[in-house]
Amino acid sequence: MSETIKALHKEAARCADEIKKYKSVHVVSHIDADGLTSAGIICTALERGGFEYTTRFVKQLDEKALDAIADENHSIVIFTDLGSGMCEQIKSRGIHAVISDHHQPQGSYQFHLNPHLFGANGSYELSGSGTTYLLASALGKNQDLSSLAIVGAVGDMQHLKMGQLVGVNREILEEGVRGGILQFQKDLTLFGKQTRPIYKLMQYSSDPYLPGLTGNEEACIEFLHSLNISLTQDEHWRRWIDLEISEKQKIVSGLIQYCLKSGMPSYKIERLVGEIYILLGEKEGTEMRDASEFSTLLNATARYDHAEIGLAVCMGNREEAYESARKLLAEHRQNLVNGLMYVKEKGITQLENIQYFDAGSEIKETIVGIIAGMSSTLVENRNLPIIAFAKAEGGTKVSARGTQDLIRRGVNLSEAMAIVSAEVGGVGGGHDIAAGATIPDGKKEEFARKLDLFIGEQLRRNAHSK
Ligand code: C5P
Ligand code: C5P
Ligand code: C5P
Ligand code: ZN
Repeated sequence: MSETIKALHKEAARCADEIKKYKSVHVVSHIDADGLTSAGIICTALERGGFEYTTRFVKQLDEKALDAIADENHSIVIFTDLGSGMCEQIKSRGIHAVISDHHQPQGSYQFHLNPHLFGANGSYELSGSGTTYLLASALGKNQDLSSLAIVGAVGDMQHLKMGQLVGVNREILEEGVRGGILQFQKDLTLFGKQTRPIYKLMQYSSDPYLPGLTGNEEACIEFLHSLNISLTQDEHWRRWIDLEISEKQKIVSGLIQYCLKSGMPSYKIERLVGEIYILLGEKEGTEMRDASEFSTLLNATARYDHAEIGLAVCMGNREEAYESARKLLAEHRQNLVNGLMYVKEKGITQLENIQYFDAGSEIKETIVGIIAGMSSTLVENRNLPIIAFAKAEGGTKVSARGTQDLIRRGVNLSEAMAIVSAEVGGVGGGHDIAAGATIPDGKKEEFARKLDLFIGEQLRRNAHSK
């Protein structure tokens, strides 16, 4: 066990002792896959511990959300996957809380479980769900919830930085493996191996973008035919999990050759194969079996104001809630496709150090960040952070996404969003590689110009320090 996880366990125990002083708890969490799995973990642990609990899901923990929470006079509130950026505001409202989060802390709080405070990086070494898993472990015997911890980490794309889960995430993964809950293996990384017809894996691949295959159904079908792979069996589309090992190998090497011929750089081709995470307790062929598909299923609920459905799925409902989630997933997929098409048509504006697009009201503010991330396949220059604007209630939502390379060169989007949004009267934060903000309407251009300068400054500072 690493020193970091030992220290986290110790702080988790202190937070759990505080929670145990109360009978009834209010849980506040974030509306994405990591937020839902965090809530699923803590609510299950509370249920098992005989607590009463209520839940609330928010897009952002802003002043308004905090006011509403403060007004309700809860004896104790557990913030999961958010809260660390609002320590002072939580204190000043006299909210008695435990914060279980992995975002960069701003200020300090008495009961505060966050990897950044114990020498781990919350953008890839521990997710909100992982942090909350440690808290749940201090509340009782909850090792089976390691599966949800890993789904949350994958939902926040924490496995991408090193090509696999590392740090405290990895220790949780290993705990799950020992308990027979989880399994990891090297496999094709394309999305949809449990549930989708094989050709769709290529058709919808955005990272890596497969020139000639991505977006082209016919070409994908033809590609598989040329490898002598039969696409159907008993009039059903075959899925990746239906294939023989030899067929899988044929496709992987066929794809690698195809990409080499297309002149794709090797670092991109390498992304075709990577570590994937399987939930052994879930039925094969369902979204919940694969951490990446599970996280997308959850995003499809909470980002569309149906967090209660995602939470129910996390807590084991495999009937009505799961059926509703699948319907929402079909709509989510369509929205992602439409959103990407919109960005492609509208185009992306390049400044010196950033590039941006304005989705107006065409893309929902709760998914514009996902689309900003996926649109890296559309841009000419992958070496500039991508910024997206979308209309939100009471302001403009900003989402920012960077690359590993940019982080190495000194870019920190969390810092940039926090500081530049404040300059135009907004609030922001997040992670070095993925961050967001809300700014007043009518400030987009000014914000973009200021952000451009700020990122330029981050790059220069870094270059000087070397
Ligand atoms: O609020 P939260 O921390 O859960 O959001 C993290 C966001 O960062 C996710 O939406 C995820 O898509 C994004 N991310 C990313 N690339 C990474 C790591 C995270 O786009 N390498
Ligand atoms: O799987 P990956 O992390 O690359 O997905 C990028 C984002 O798009 C995630 O939010 C993922 O859930 C979503 N996605 C999707 N359908 C696909 C591919 C990705 O919903 N076919
Ligand atoms: O909404 P989006 O997916 O772009 O958010 C990326 C990251 O920025 C998330 O971790 C989110 O919690 C954070 N964020 C923030 N403050 C905002 C908006 C987003 O800290 N106002
Ligand atoms: Zn998170």
